[in-house]
Amino acid sequence: MGRLSVHKLSEWKAQGRRFAMVTAYDYPGARLAEQADIPILLVGDSVGSVVLGYDSTVPVTMDEMVHHTKPVVRATEKAIVVADLPFMSYQTDPADAMRNAGRLLKEGGATAVKLEGGSAMVETVRRMVDAGIPVMGHLGLTPQSINQFGGHKVQGKSPAAAVKLISDAKALEDAGAFAIVLETIPAELAKCVSERLTVPTIGIGAGAGCDAQVQVLHDMLGIYDDWRQLKHTKRYRTLGSEMRDALRQYREEVENGDFPTEENSIHVDRKLAREFAHSS
Ligand code: KIV
Repeated sequence: MGRLSVHKLSEWKAQGRRFAMVTAYDYPGARLAEQADIPILLVGDSVGSVVLGYDSTVPVTMDEMVHHTKPVVRATEKAIVVADLPFMSYQTDPADAMRNAGRLLKEGGATAVKLEGGSAMVETVRRMVDAGIPVMGHLGLTPQSINQFGGHKVQGKSPAAAVKLISDAKALEDAGAFAIVLETIPAELAKCVSERLTVPTIGIGAGAGCDAQVQVLHDMLGIYDDWRQLKHTKRYRTLGSEMRDALRQYREEVENGDFPTEENSIHVDRKLAREFAHSS
């Protein structure tokens, strides 16, 4: 059967078919997402915040992205795997951008790359697409620019910012991007952008008017139920507390001798057991 083609997504949009994308950073997460029939997995540079313990996505390196892309690809057969180009792997010069995007496909096995930014990125996107690298755009609150924004602030709130975002989205589509993530912008603006494009918009904190949605796996599963509660996240489960309870129970059972039981033990026959007992 093979992986879904990135071109299918525009067909889905034309048919009014909505779809979900979720982040994945390792084999188990990707396997579960594929079993749930999620058609696009994003190896997001959010790996820096939710898996590697950095305080933002800024420190994430190319080697880390390649490392996390590989198991996601190994765990899946059907899903499109999109890998993020991390901060400063594509903004410096076009040759670097091409080399690094190529690494995510050649070494990581990704289907496509994602990069942040609008008109400034148009030439880079065009070159990648011309070279056979499918590109997903990302506009609005682009986390790699967190220091420039001065925090996680809603973007596109003024008429001028909205006009710029709409023209950036159009420019990315014209350059060949196959989809565009819209992050933390007013729902009204996201709807306008979605209506003006033929490629799908994938929203996170951008309302229901987008063609698709993306969530960060650890946030939607509630792994950090004691920490990250973001307005744009729906916590479908609170697995953090379930995992913590399981670990606590395991520790207690080891401490008080309730684990392992006979069921968890392997035995030899009596004769061999006697030999074991008498061996010096
Ligand atoms: O890295 C990431 O998880 C992302 C999503 C928030 C879209 O870019």
